[in-house]
Amino acid sequence: MCGIVGYIGKRNALPIVVEGLKRLEYRGYDSCGVASLFHGELSVEKMAGKVVGLQSLLAKKRDNPIIAIGHTRWATHGIPDKTNAHPHLSQSGEFAIVHNGIIENYRVLKKGLEDNGYVFSSQTDTEVIVALIQTLYKGNLEDAVGNALKHVTGAYGIAVMTKHEPHKIVCARRGAPLVMGIGTDEYFVASDVAAIIQHTKQVIYLDDGELGILTSDGVETLACDRESISKDIQHLTFDVEAIEKSGYEHFMLKEIFQQPQTAFDSMRGRLNVKDGSAHLGGINDHIGSILHADQRYITACGTSWHSALIGEMMIEQFARLPAEVEYASEFRYREPLVDNRSVIFAISQSGETADTLSAIEEGKSRGATTLGIVNVVGSSIARATDAGVYIHAGPEIGVASTKAFTSQVAVMSLLTLKLARLMGMSKKDGIEIVEAMQRVPEQIESVLNQSDVIAEIARTYSKASNFLYLGRGVNFPVALEGALKMKEISYIHAEGYPAAEMKHGPIALIDEKMPIIMIAPKDKTYAKVMGNIEELKARKGRVIAIATEGDKEIAKIADHTIYVPATLAFTAPMVNVIPLQLLAYYIAVEKGCNVDQPRNLAKSVTVE
Ligand code: F6R
Repeated sequence: MCGIVGYIGKRNALPIVVEGLKRLEYRGYDSCGVASLFHGELSVEKMAGKVVGLQSLLAKKRDNPIIAIGHTRWATHGIPDKTNAHPHLSQSGEFAIVHNGIIENYRVLKKGLEDNGYVFSSQTDTEVIVALIQTLYKGNLEDAVGNALKHVTGAYGIAVMTKHEPHKIVCARRGAPLVMGIGTDEYFVASDVAAIIQHTKQVIYLDDGELGILTSDGVETLACDRESISKDIQHLTFDVEAIEKSGYEHFMLKEIFQQPQTAFDSMRGRLNVKDGSAHLGGINDHIGSILHADQRYITACGTSWHSALIGEMMIEQFARLPAEVEYASEFRYREPLVDNRSVIFAISQSGETADTLSAIEEGKSRGATTLGIVNVVGSSIARATDAGVYIHAGPEIGVASTKAFTSQVAVMSLLTLKLARLMGMSKKDGIEIVEAMQRVPEQIESVLNQSDVIAEIARTYSKASNFLYLGRGVNFPVALEGALKMKEISYIHAEGYPAAEMKHGPIALIDEKMPIIMIAPKDKTYAKVMGNIEELKARKGRVIAIATEGDKEIAKIADHTIYVPATLAFTAPMVNVIPLQLLAYYIAVEKGCNVDQPRNLAKSVTVE
């Protein structure tokens, strides 16, 4: 999704802003640009395509500006070409803006401005903001920005400059993230800390309705009435290495291989071995509400929705508490049965997904308690919810989510354990689960050690047009997640089904060209799943079994077998998903796909 970077200081702003834009490439974009102020003149360089092209354009410039704003655009209004790329200049050329988000009433605003003689040059919604700023400017940029935004409905994170105040960037946010970075005699604004972490770890997150002013002397935050407000400076806890490939060919591969550590980090300090329970400090005060709620919803999108499904199954099975999973995008519009006796969990890696944020707002407006299960610290969902638990997976750069999934499931498992113990699970059973959870990092490691076997299978099937993923119980959402990974990064059509459901329709698809990934651990449905494999083989399907170590029987009927360590149902998803991530990865590499930035996808989807 779109990215913003701005800089004011003593150094040449252009390479700093361009480097920041490169750090945001993972979010997905189709055009880019930068505006800078040099000797009192605003100039803009922009283009369709990647930042590396912009870099070549800028290499020809002799300017040494100390102030600039840049943008990567993911097209919403207007095709991804140079004209629609940001920054946008006002008609007079005096103001430049970059914008993330969507202005919902831009048509009405545009018509009004055109009626008054304003001439627009792009098809974007963004241009109306800079037009309003130009119209309302009376010598003070923050006043013009604040007044312009009063006319606007929708979501925005913006950064604005004017030639009239050449030592100032004004930024503002509503519904799209923005953070100001404080360096030594230099200041930054960005939509994602990844863009500025190499320069500073001291940041101020803007909240909705706030304005930020960056000058060469410092930063200031204003409330919507333009009163100065004092905000806490936050210290970022990760290093620039966390957002680099560190020798791996792709971020996705690095993140898959990080999972022994990230799964451990999600559980660190949260398992109570002696008591066979879990400790989740962030939601401690809300445990009573969760236990006594009339409804428990878990809402999310995409991969996070798969974690939600696993959470629902575990909470019902082990804590014996009913829970319901909702697509966040559907929640708001189906008049959900939510009131002040409801608890809504929102799961999100980025913490910025617009659909999930809307679901939270819907819940809040009906009086529900909202709890976030989020990766990105300080993100919009983390701040919009009443309380929550961070999953501590560290920055996830590959667009296809991997390590966030295992960490989300780890936190759902901790939550289940905590609730289950309070609902009567015995201490002995609790201790057994704690011990199983402690084994997860090494079990993930042992699957990663088979990456060569999986890469070989990937080579065999890289030309397939379809894949079917089957699993039962908690392995059904794992099957869905495996299919989603395959679709996202290799563009191969893939479907996930509960294994037994296969005979109610999908079996019609089976022939010798159909690879079927069958998640078949030795659990209580094993015999039934073996029957399903026979049915598939009778129709010449090509079966790739994910089986429990030591299971020789399955290897006799499956075409390929990938072994995973024996686990409890409680911890199975975290281990069984690993071969599916690797298979999707190696097939995408084999096909020459852009693994880290798959076509049409964005890392955080900040539009509904
Ligand atoms: C899948 C993927 C998406 C996200 C979804 C929700 O690999 O990345 O399906 O899971 O867009 O994003 P978050 O978790 O950031 O709310």
